[in-house]
Amino acid sequence: MGWFSPDIENIDDLFLHTLRDIYYAEHQIAKALPDMVAKASDAELKKGFTMHLRQTKGQIKRLDRAFKALKQQPKGTQCPAIDGIIAEANDIAGEIDDKMVLNAALIAAAQAVEHYEITRYGTLASWAKLLGRPDVARLLAANLKEEKATDKKLNGIAKRKINKKALARRPKRPGRLERAENAMLVTAAGIPAI
Ligand SMILES: [Fe+2]
Ligand SMILES: [Fe+2]
Repeated sequence: MGWFSPDIENIDDLFLHTLRDIYYAEHQIAKALPDMVAKASDAELKKGFTMHLRQTKGQIKRLDRAFKALKQQPKGTQCPAIDGIIAEANDIAGEIDDKMVLNAALIAAAQAVEHYEITRYGTLASWAKLLGRPDVARLLAANLKEEKATDKKLNGIAKRKINKKALARRPKRPGRLERAENAMLVTAAGIPAI
């Protein structure tokens, strides 16, 4: 923030700030995706992440074009939200040994990223239109469309097989959730009904 005046004085500044935010986020995602490709053990999931890495690079190019159209230098501004989503995904992945459970965790993390991008591009595309820049809005809407399609695809893979495979890896003995449920029943049994 500036010393004498705030950095964001109007909606144009806010738009540019948010554009820089997603520019930073896309670069972080492009850095994180190869690791997700390496960690995924399902061929379809691996292929999906690989394809989205390619798409992400194309999305960065569209953002470069948007900056150029606005006569602005392409530049990112740190986005703690995407840093947090990626850091949390890495932490969780580091705690999982079972490959099927890891695949389920990777999809969940990737969908958190997609949802973040969807909200950003949705806002940016509508602001660009509002600010009289349909050319920039079109570029942002193209990225939005790809993020939505990716989210839908990931959802399909998770529902069709990944989650089921993770479920099949549950131990025969009651899982932690079931044990907690049983413990609650025991406690509840001791409480007299009102
Ligand atoms: Fe993206
Ligand atoms: Fe994405």
